[in-house]
Amino acid sequence: MDLKKALSIEDLRVIARKRVPRFVFDYVAGGSEDEVTLQGNRESFERLRFRPRTLVDVSQRSLHTTILGGPSRLPVIAGPVGLLGLSWRHGDMEMAHAAAAAGVPYGVSTVSMDSLEDIAREAGGRLWFQCYVFRERAITEALIRRAAAAGYETLIITSDFPVAGKRERDLRSGLLPANQLTLRTKLDILLHPRWLASVATQRPRFVNLERELGAGRDAASFLTSNMFDPALDWDDFRRFRDLWKGKLLLKGVLRAEDAARAVACGADGVVLSNHGGRQLDGAISGMDALPEVVREIRGRASIIVDGGVRRGSDIAKALACGAEAVILGRAVNYGLAAGGAAGVTRALDILRDEFDRTLALNGCCRPADLSPDLITTV
Ligand SMILES: Cc1cc2nc3c(=O)[nH]c(=O)nc-3n(C[C@H](O)[C@H](O)[C@H](O)COP(=O)(O)O)c2cc1C
Repeated sequence: MDLKKALSIEDLRVIARKRVPRFVFDYVAGGSEDEVTLQGNRESFERLRFRPRTLVDVSQRSLHTTILGGPSRLPVIAGPVGLLGLSWRHGDMEMAHAAAAAGVPYGVSTVSMDSLEDIAREAGGRLWFQCYVFRERAITEALIRRAAAAGYETLIITSDFPVAGKRERDLRSGLLPANQLTLRTKLDILLHPRWLASVATQRPRFVNLERELGAGRDAASFLTSNMFDPALDWDDFRRFRDLWKGKLLLKGVLRAEDAARAVACGADGVVLSNHGGRQLDGAISGMDALPEVVREIRGRASIIVDGGVRRGSDIAKALACGAEAVILGRAVNYGLAAGGAAGVTRALDILRDEFDRTLALNGCCRPADLSPDLITTV
């Protein structure tokens, strides 16, 4: 199947699965432990059904919206997703170009394989920087300063990573814990010569970190050596607020009181997320947490939700339940792995088309028309 024939995100997933070696596909598609939460993210959307309004003139529609006070042509944000360079050569840059062309923000991951400065210089668009917090705080703070200097408008602090989730697919392939691929994984790579010829020439490099670590230290072993800081707490979050003058998001919130606390610390918004089912298996989904968070902070801060968005109707459900926008993780990553920037564009086109149809079929002309009365649970 070629890109143009892909009708759904699922079609892009199928193309991606064939294009990349198994260990890359598993890294993107997989979750932690029994993948209960990964599956639950989809089920949260599937449980919701529409109660559409009928006989509404929907001839004049617009999908444009505002996310964190800035314009977006769709209520979605691409990423943040680490190691995109494994899916496509210079995958972060490709993602950035596609997001900028589609007029939606892109959240660059700390562990991108193109540098945050190169992405800002070459791709532009609305760029957000996602920051992991390392034990060596000087590294985190230097990254935050660099993102500010490069013109990033929003900082995302990811809080659901005090320790890494147990991702058994990656442990089996040898990607984790220390990127020592098994013989079986290496043989499978050889069966993907096109991938090998393009992607494998861009050695996995964590360019953002390399600069901070200096010549004597290797970024890949730094990342696999438990460098994420399990001591991260609310005092730290307040300090990041003082350090960062732009918009600030806390990503990884699943409880109303945490959302309220983030706002009290000066956050401009929260991302309701379980990290795409890759961290705490058994956690509720962002969609499950949405109603209580909406009751607590709506009108005071932006509420963004992620996890399991695969259809335009999922975007509509999230907005109807009170979210301002959704983050796309795998949906755009599958597009990237299927066809680089063109594949991401295809993924965004598919979701745009589906979202537009969903609006019209619900008797809505714009994202702001989506309201809770359109939704029921089955
Ligand atoms: C392959 C992969 C890598 C990810 N890397 C990061 C990351 O570096 N930083 C981060 O905050 N979230 C990361 N996430 C989580 C996503 O930002 C997002 O929360 C999640 O993918 C949403 O679920 P979905 O993939 O079902 O859309 C990653 C997700 C995937 C699938």
